[in-house]
Amino acid sequence: MKQKVVVTRRIPQKALDILEKHAEVYVWDSEEQPIPRHILLQEVEDAAGIFSILTERIDTEVFEQAPMLKVVSNMAVGVDNIDLAEATRRGIPVGHTPGILTETTADLTFALLMATARRLVDAVQFIKDGKWKSWSPMLLTGQEIYGATIGIIGMGRIGEAVAKRAAGFDMNILYHNRSRRPDVEKQLNAQYRPLEELLRESDFVVLLTPSTPETYRMMGEEQFNLMQPNAIFINTSRGKNVDETALYNALKEGKIWAAGLDVFDKEPIDPDHPLLSLPNVVALPHIASASIATRTKMAVLAAENLVAGIMGEKLKHTANP
Ligand code: DGY
Repeated sequence: MKQKVVVTRRIPQKALDILEKHAEVYVWDSEEQPIPRHILLQEVEDAAGIFSILTERIDTEVFEQAPMLKVVSNMAVGVDNIDLAEATRRGIPVGHTPGILTETTADLTFALLMATARRLVDAVQFIKDGKWKSWSPMLLTGQEIYGATIGIIGMGRIGEAVAKRAAGFDMNILYHNRSRRPDVEKQLNAQYRPLEELLRESDFVVLLTPSTPETYRMMGEEQFNLMQPNAIFINTSRGKNVDETALYNALKEGKIWAAGLDVFDKEPIDPDHPLLSLPNVVALPHIASASIATRTKMAVLAAENLVAGIMGEKLKHTANP
């Protein structure tokens, strides 16, 4: 008899086909609505595997409800929705999807940087509102990108891919990371800086660290105060890495020039959230990896990880320490 797996959201057919070949599959088949908690808890009771996405909290309560659980496979590189320590303590491998979303996420990070610096969202709205009366010297002027200084916080795979794009724009590349990256320093002429120096020197500060207890609200009032008044803050990592009240104040008081945000402390962000009322914020609904090809690859890899886990084989990528 096939083992049961629980898929917590509608996923591409290609990934579902892989799962259905090897398992009895329960799918919460909704595009928009996360699986209700009580249904998740009910469905995992006899499940050997969970295919999860960022919206599901996979914690002790879930593990307690799932005595047959062998594997959790997250369709994301980040696993901050999963109690990794608890999974590890129980000997449950947690799969994730690093690598395949790197370039797509870097593309969006750079697109957000450019859209924010050159006020693309304002400009689109301006023309649609019929406000374009004539060409004018300082109309919708933004910040320079070519040749500017970019400070990348978190020089992992995605940080490096963003640095490559920045090099194409002849940007001066600074970075801050837990450990030095001599390879990136050599190839891209990136220079390491302590965080405070990076914040002081950068025209663009791009946050790309994972969400951990150490990075929780690492960008707060003190950090925004160090940035230049014409600087732009970009976050495509996790919302929890930022103190949103401090960010709002910095933007409102003109301590920094603008922000481009793909992630928020609470997702979905409330449409009435003060940050969304600011004209100098470009906000996106957590879409950094959202190309059709990449999301499909992520789902397929997550399915392969899940199948490996229920078969007792080694996963392609595990997030457990
Ligand atoms: C991830 O993979 O962690 C992203 O945030 C979603 O692609």
